[in-house]
Amino acid sequence: MGLVTTKEMFEKSMKEHFAIGAFNVNNMEVLQAVVDAAKEEKSPVIIQASSSAIKYARINYLMKMIEAAVEETDVPIALHLDHGADFEICKTCIDAGFTSVMIDGSKYDFEENVALTKKVVEYAHARGVVVEAELGKLAGVEDDVNVASSDAMYTNPDQAKEFVDRTGCDSLAIAIGTSHGAYKFKGEAKLRFDILKKVKEKLPNTPIVLHGASTVIPELVETCNKYGGNIPGAKGVPDEMLNEASHSGVSKINVDTDLRLAMTSEIKRVFAEEPEAFDPRKYLTPARDKVKEIVKHKMRDVFESSNKA
Ligand code: G3H
Ligand code: 13P
Ligand code: ZN
Repeated sequence: MGLVTTKEMFEKSMKEHFAIGAFNVNNMEVLQAVVDAAKEEKSPVIIQASSSAIKYARINYLMKMIEAAVEETDVPIALHLDHGADFEICKTCIDAGFTSVMIDGSKYDFEENVALTKKVVEYAHARGVVVEAELGKLAGVEDDVNVASSDAMYTNPDQAKEFVDRTGCDSLAIAIGTSHGAYKFKGEAKLRFDILKKVKEKLPNTPIVLHGASTVIPELVETCNKYGGNIPGAKGVPDEMLNEASHSGVSKINVDTDLRLAMTSEIKRVFAEEPEAFDPRKYLTPARDKVKEIVKHKMRDVFESSNKA
């Protein structure tokens, strides 16, 4: 079927109240795991790469691997730039064949964010590519976008409506309490579903995106720590909250940290349990299997995107 944009998958997600997982990839193993999971679950999927992932994997390799993934799979796959920091990186990805880009102007003030987003939307739409933008600030580190925790700012629903009207962006990432990485909450996990509800009332036809939405799966954290890792107290967004978000107008849920934890926990386990092993396939195979298992679980039990392809 070839790569698709997110347009049709988002329309279906809004109509049928489920969310589509957007999974960050940096290498072949994670890409294969995500695409195989989507195939087995018959789920649409968004493959996303950040600018540092593109730098790591190299854009030519990335595009060829995606091409292979699409050839082998018949579910809808969109290829998305995650956290594009400026017009140039968005242009590079659009020109290379990405079907969706994010322009992350959340570090700028409202007017600058509008102007930058509009510029990307004009370039992208003329080439059949869709654009995700961000309004509000997530605490933590977003690729090249640094936001101090104290500066965390929830999305204002009135501004969200004005922002979408003025920029023509296709989907909007909002800040309702999530953050990137393995440490999202100090105490209880808490998301501002009231803000999500108000944003949806103002923008019923705009797909909403949730960044920083890894669960930071306790079992994976435990395995990492058991085999020499040092990430005590890591905590993410519980599955039940993500499931509620999927039913409440969130169309795209971003996951990177859980995939990193899945890879790392299995590699650590094999290194500790089989110290004689040095063939990379000995540890990359269970690592890839674990990523696939986690992605399938999210599609089936949390986002409910299984059988929606
Ligand atoms: O939101 C950030 C993503 O997890 C990508 O992270 O820039 O380290 O690839 P990265
Ligand atoms: P996590 O760090 O929670 O996986 O978030 C990833 C993300 O938002 C990528 O844009
Ligand atoms: Zn993000």
